[in-house]
Formats: sequence, C-alpha cells, structure tokens
Amino acid sequence: MAIIEVAGLCKSYGKVKAAHEVTFNVEDGEVFGILGPNGAGKTTTLEIIEGLRTADSGSVRVCDIDVLKEKRAVQELIGVQLQSTTLFDELTVMETIHLFQGLFSKKVNLTSLVTKLALTDKQKSPVKELSGGQKQRLALALALVNDPKVLFLDEPTTGLDPQARRSVWELVQEIRSNGKTIVLTTHYMEEAESLCDRVAVMDHGKIIAMDTPRQLIKNLGFDNTIEFSIGDGLDVRELEKLPSVKSVHNKEKEHHLFTQDPQATLLGLMRLAQERSAAISDLRVHTASLEDVFISLTGRRLRE
Ligand SMILES: Nc1ncnc2c1ncn2[C@@H]1O[C@H](COP(=O)(O)OP(=O)(O)OP(=O)(O)O)[C@@H](O)[C@H]1O
Ligand SMILES: [Mg+2]
Repeated sequence: MAIIEVAGLCKSYGKVKAAHEVTFNVEDGEVFGILGPNGAGKTTTLEIIEGLRTADSGSVRVCDIDVLKEKRAVQELIGVQLQSTTLFDELTVMETIHLFQGLFSKKVNLTSLVTKLALTDKQKSPVKELSGGQKQRLALALALVNDPKVLFLDEPTTGLDPQARRSVWELVQEIRSNGKTIVLTTHYMEEAESLCDRVAVMDHGKIIAMDTPRQLIKNLGFDNTIEFSIGDGLDVRELEKLPSVKSVHNKEKEHHLFTQDPQATLLGLMRLAQERSAAISDLRVHTASLEDVFISLTGRRLRE
C-alpha cells in the first residue's frame, strides 16, 4: 500500500525548475531515498511533501490525506528533520525535546526516546555543547517526538565523520524495523545503497531513474568500472575498442571504462598504454555502484 503518493509535482524559482513533473509512490514500511547532487531539487521535493513549501502544480497525499488541503492533519502524522535545524543554543537537550513535543497532540515517552538516541548522558547539557553527531541525533529525536508514521530526513549524515554516520545508519534501520516509513535525501551513494529499499535518482529537478539499488546497478549492463588518468599520446576513441568495454566516460584526463570483464579490459588497456608510451595513474577497479548509475545517466559525478 502506498503511504505517500506524489504526482506531477512542479515548483519553479524564476527560471530554475527546482522540481519538474516529480512523480513517485512510497510504500508503507519502506526506506525510500532521493539521491542527487547539490541543487537537484531534493529539499524542494521533500518540503512540499511535508507541507512546508507550496507546489506550483501537482498533488501530494500522505496517509491518504491531501497535503495541500489539510497540511496540519498531515503534520501530526509525520516527523521532519530539516537539512539545517536551528536550535536554541542555551536550552538543554531535554528542554529542547519538551519544547518540540508541545507542538503535537500525540506524544512518545521521552526517557525511552532519549535512551534510544544515546543522549541520556547529554540530556542536561545545553545544545551549544553537543558534537556534530550528537546534534544530528537530537534532530532525529525531535523528528520522533510525535511517534510519526512517516519520517522525513533531509541529508541526515552530511558533515558527520564515518563513525557518527554509521550510528545514524543504525538508528535509521532500527526506526524502520519498528514499522515506520522513512524518506531520506542524500548525496552519498553508499548511504543510498546500504539504507534504501528503493532510490529515486534526481537531477535538475527531475527523477531520472527509480528502482531498488540492486536493479539500478543491474540495468547498467556491466558489473565493473575501471577508473584511471592517462598522460598524452593516446586517442580516447581507442578506449572504446578495448576488449569487453560496454561504454566509456571521459572527463579531461580522467576516464571510466565500464566493463563486463575487468581482466580482459585491463590487459588491453595496459598494452595500449605501453604502445602509446602514455603513463597511467590513479588506476582503480571497482564493482559498479550507484555513482556509476549517475555517471552513465548524466555524464557527471554525484559530487562534482
Ligand atoms: N527559496 C528558494 N528561492 C530560490 N531558489 C531556490 C529556493 N530554494 C531552492 N532554490 C533553487 O532550487 C534548486 C533546487 O534546490 P534544492 O534545495 O531543492 O536542492 P537540493 O537537491 O536539496 O540541494 P542540496 O543537495 O544542496 O541540499 C536550486 O537551484 C536552488 O538554488
Ligand atoms: Mg537539500
């Protein structure tokens, strides 16, 4: 059953089409990711669904309620973590959580919420004394104070170190196992791959692909990527003729060979480089990822 139904959503800022004909459904209990580079329209899309921005056209239903008509009813049912949450520095963690809980009629037990988010030791600390990871966990706690059915997380791990990122991932998985639906945005492909049941890849306001991470990668039609830089002396068109190469992406001196047989392609590449006396550097071979999906669809990297 779809818990979120978005159809034909459009939003422009002057000439910029921040969201253009965005259409997707999110199933009950799913973790749904919106993956895209800076300015793709992720926050715009999310905040329209949350009832925080108004669309120019299109429709959004959450839990079968029309967000455009009954914003307040929807906001009781959802939890929202904004991309940048401004909190009161002088209030303590517990005071902040109390303040937010006052906005909703449905309430969770705060002691267990604070324990779940590993903030028990910090509940009496003012917000200004929290680390980046602790602030992010507090923002997550604030999104959970009304025991929401659907949770929206806008870049929940941007700016966190790898350890803090992992702890947010674990929290998201735990929240999901409690039956909640989660919609999150990210520009980290590892995050989308490991957390999301389905991913919508967004670029310039449009969804350009949508499926399970595994299927998106499978649709590429190759399993491996060979990345490298190469010196002068080689015509890049020669790269396309190397054994087993499915497609090539070139950007200045940086090249990606998408291949089904990395060994055969590598041997051919080495031979070619030797014949042309062109030096290869930064050579890497990896299994295809969502980054490769984005590159093959747009010709750009996610974080360029
Ligand atoms: N309030 C606004 N006024 C004018 N332009 C806006 C506004 N909000 C967003 N935009 C523009 O709309 C486009 C999409 O922005 P949005 O914030 O939705 O992208 P995003 O995918 O969330 O990016 P990021 O990864 O940087 O958070 C951008 O070109 C942005 O400059
Ligand atoms: Mg954003």
